[in-house]
Amino acid sequence: MIVCICRAVSDRQIRAVVSQGARSISEVRAELGTGECCGKCSRQVRELIDQHASANRASCGASDCACA
Ligand code: FES
Repeated sequence: MIVCICRAVSDRQIRAVVSQGARSISEVRAELGTGECCGKCSRQVRELIDQHASANRASCGASDCACA
């Protein structure tokens, strides 16, 4: 599904960048250009970042991990 219409960026591309270490809207923007035009995609980018963080917290049991 296309998330950023202006840059034709899909949720799959955003998930890939986030799984490779992007942790903020600005980091995703630097990689894919999302939010550089109209900015309407920023909320959905944030949600994808948060979903990834939640999934990591659920699967990570280490108390000293950065995801905690
Ligand atoms: S929809 Fe992403 S910048 Fe316009």
